[in-house]
Amino acid sequence: MDRHLDKYKNKAAIIFVPEPESEAPVSLTYRELYVQVNEFAALLRDFCGLKAGDRVTVHMPMVPELPVTMLACARLGVIHSVVFGGFSGEACGMRAADSGSQVLITMDGYYRNGKLLDHKAGADIALNIAKKEGTTVEKVLVWRRHPGQNASATPFVEGRDFWVDEILPRYSGEIVAPVPMDSEAPLFLMYTSGSTGKPKGCQHRTGGYLAYVTGCSKYIQDIHPEDVYWCMADIGWITGHSFIVYGPLALAATSVIYEGVPTYPDAGRVWRIAERLDVNIFHTSPTAIRMLRKSGHDEPTKYKYHFKHMTTVGEPIEPEVWRWYYETVGKGEAVIVDTWWQTENGGFLCSTKPALDPMKPGSAGPGVPGIYPMIYDEMGEEVHAGSGKAGNICIRNPWPGIMQTIWGDRERFVAQYYAKYCKDTNSKRWQDWPYFAADGAVLAVDGYFRILGRVDDVINVAGHRLGTKEIESACLTVPEVAEAAVVPVVDEIKGRVPEVYIVLQPDVQASQEIVDKVNHVIETMIGKIARPRRILVVPDMPKTRSGKLMRRILAALSNNMATGDITTLANPDVVESVRVLVQGKEAVVLQEGPEDLKTFGANE
Ligand code: WT7
Repeated sequence: MDRHLDKYKNKAAIIFVPEPESEAPVSLTYRELYVQVNEFAALLRDFCGLKAGDRVTVHMPMVPELPVTMLACARLGVIHSVVFGGFSGEACGMRAADSGSQVLITMDGYYRNGKLLDHKAGADIALNIAKKEGTTVEKVLVWRRHPGQNASATPFVEGRDFWVDEILPRYSGEIVAPVPMDSEAPLFLMYTSGSTGKPKGCQHRTGGYLAYVTGCSKYIQDIHPEDVYWCMADIGWITGHSFIVYGPLALAATSVIYEGVPTYPDAGRVWRIAERLDVNIFHTSPTAIRMLRKSGHDEPTKYKYHFKHMTTVGEPIEPEVWRWYYETVGKGEAVIVDTWWQTENGGFLCSTKPALDPMKPGSAGPGVPGIYPMIYDEMGEEVHAGSGKAGNICIRNPWPGIMQTIWGDRERFVAQYYAKYCKDTNSKRWQDWPYFAADGAVLAVDGYFRILGRVDDVINVAGHRLGTKEIESACLTVPEVAEAAVVPVVDEIKGRVPEVYIVLQPDVQASQEIVDKVNHVIETMIGKIARPRRILVVPDMPKTRSGKLMRRILAALSNNMATGDITTLANPDVVESVRVLVQGKEAVVLQEGPEDLKTFGANE
């Protein structure tokens, strides 16, 4: 930000588009962003007493105050931990406790689907949960969505909760010298789901992360200062951190932030925004593309915008969806990059270079410059290009954007990402420590990687990671539930959605009330994003003789796929009774299912 003041101070850094169309877009110039970041940094330092190395949890919607908050933290060397605004207060509280945050920053409310939601309510829940986990959050700073109004019905706690707009005038015009940090100092934490019940805090570094996202934004997304760039992700996920905030702003671009739902109030909204702001680079997920295609196939043709470049990220994109993106959204004028990466990685791992490499619908492409991906089989043998065999995609080399560690859990970091294919755990040579991404992939002769999906117990819902174990732990907090298993089910729009199987305690009768309770607990402990397609009460779970729950078989039943050999189970009969429950009495035609569902649970 400071770097751009000479040349670009009067240029829009951020354009905020509120969800209600009656509220006009708001532009923040680089100078104005600089002023706001400095004032808020002064508040964090002098009112909250925050200093370099402290952690702050941020639970906010898609508003410009969110990047202001993040950049104010960065200015002081304070480590921000942004929790997706759609996550529940409970989920926020668990993360606040894990990071040891003494301050929580939130907002009174925001618009979603035409409604002004009470968001601050979650803060009280978060603080209670954090306290139970042993962390006392001392201050809650509340940004206000509309001046002079309060969107939240939750009462303020005296001495703990503060309206930002009441404190901020004390720091009017203050300039805070940026605290110089080592390039290896942590910049932020981003929690993500893995194969255990507890989300892990991916710790990203100051220098390498910023360099990497800037490089990816420039060379893969072709972002220049004169571009109006719109990434529709939420800043509460890694895509938003890297490709709404840090990357585009480092390049002095104009970054668009849209508050609400892409199809609100109608299927033309996204294209109206693109036309009005003259957006020329667009970035979104296959789920959003599928949704826009379904709700308004020809809408893009009605608006006079022109994209030069489009990114897709987060999930595999079906070739027919890719073609609609190319022909209808891009009007045949825009290059597409399908970027494969993860919360852990900071920036892109596989993608074509725009306009240099040929595009191949459904394939992410080769490693981006500096990244050397390869595929190993389960035995640790390399799977070669053109063999047609699927295996585990790994990155041979370290790179600047890779996370430093899991916050507070170095052992888990090594075990999760580096132990699998390390042949010599005493080695200090990076060559001996390939990064295991936990995705299946196929490498074609042309060097393009096709990503098949997760090989662990993570479900990719609408491009976001949910741990099956996290959802199962939530289910088990309902006293009537004895066992729970969560599996992914194919969904036309969201790619995959969770389906929940539960076994009740002995002598408990199945009822709608119990199902409602399970639904409710998933929503309050995790968030609406984890809402299952169905909750099925079954008499028993398929298990091996050693008592291991076979999620793979349940996933096969949920997706009408072949279950494979079940004769070695301790209770093969249960498979047929569960099948009838899930699929109805009539036998269904068994499909050859997608690759990630065939391997689901295989690594347990
Ligand atoms: C998982 C990471 C980092 C971006 C947002 C998601 C899947 C990501 C692609 C792609 C196929 C993809 C992988 C990965 N994924 N991009 N272009 N094609 N699959 O970040 O929440 O950390 O999820 O998303 O399975 O492991 P995330």
